[in-house]
Amino acid sequence: MSLKITGTGKACPEFILTNSDLTELVDTSDEWITSRTGIKTRYISTDETLLDIAVKAAKEALTRSGIEPGDLDLIICSTMQGDFITPSLACQIQKEIGAECPAFDMNGACTGFIYAIDVAKSYFDAGRAINILIVAAEQMSKLLDWKDRETCVLFGDGAGAAVFSKGTGLLAIKITAKGDDKLLTIPGTSGNSPFWTGSREDSFLHMQGKEVFKFAVNAMCRDIEDALDQAGITMKEVKKVIPHQANMRIIKAASERFGITDDQLAVGIDRYGNTSSASIPILLCELMESGELREGDIVVLSAFGGGLTSGACIIKI
Ligand code: ACO
Repeated sequence: MSLKITGTGKACPEFILTNSDLTELVDTSDEWITSRTGIKTRYISTDETLLDIAVKAAKEALTRSGIEPGDLDLIICSTMQGDFITPSLACQIQKEIGAECPAFDMNGACTGFIYAIDVAKSYFDAGRAINILIVAAEQMSKLLDWKDRETCVLFGDGAGAAVFSKGTGLLAIKITAKGDDKLLTIPGTSGNSPFWTGSREDSFLHMQGKEVFKFAVNAMCRDIEDALDQAGITMKEVKKVIPHQANMRIIKAASERFGITDDQLAVGIDRYGNTSSASIPILLCELMESGELREGDIVVLSAFGGGLTSGACIIKI
């Protein structure tokens, strides 16, 4: 099906925030965070903009793909919130890397990278593109209430990018949505209209963790199973599984369901926390860099997140 990966890149801010640093901000402990989530450290922006890290990841992916910015046909940026509402982050990236193609942002929350691959597939299938850059970039630190210990310990900032070209590497893809405005929300800004008589909410992330946890395990298991069926392969033929990095216990539950070995499983939550839609492309880039994923290997990507959204895809490198 329609596409192949030709280059990957990643970037994070410089500052590393540890669990013990967090104990100075909220009533928590390294023991609680590690045992409940698997997170040890995360990268948090201090003076880097989201554009800074997004461009770094994009340039790395482009260099490795050997494709010139002028040969891109589309840039899709997966983000829940760019530095600006307009221009889109994708348009800013287009300017910074010197590309000339159309560019837009999309918001599939943590599933955004897989949603973006699905959109890219449609462009390739329709004959509308030869090369597409996808950048997933998230600055979760701006969306968190740093006084809420139930959420501020979970997330980190980061960007992952991949250049996709026309090819035959996509073996299966599936995306889903189950509209819900209770379990995981980040309200938009209320503005200051003197005519608005409705409520004014904060714009921090709110989450009913236990319910999202259940949704996540169910969605991941269902989507991976459907994708394997669609591709007509078994887990034994898969070299690496890259699950969205939200909680080590969610990752383990899905792994046990499919008998995924430690060797097959990609884990970065200990070092990055939950970087939303950037979590999968960051690990994809690490595996390509280290040579753990090579041409001909099969990789499964699986994600879930706000929306509620979920999705999985299987790619032959
Ligand atoms: N430090 C110490 N104690 C804490 C902390 C903390 N940081 N946070 C919560 N607690 C306490 C709670 O207050 C509670 O105390 P109580 O028993 O006295 O009431 C206790 O720890 C247990 O809390 P639970 O909420 O039951 O903990 P749980 O085991 O469910 O873990 C967690 C919480 C980590 C949030 C988990 O539910 C989870 O990972 N959920 C899924 C999150 C997720 O996947 N999000 C992905 C989507 S993100 C996106 O799309 C942007």
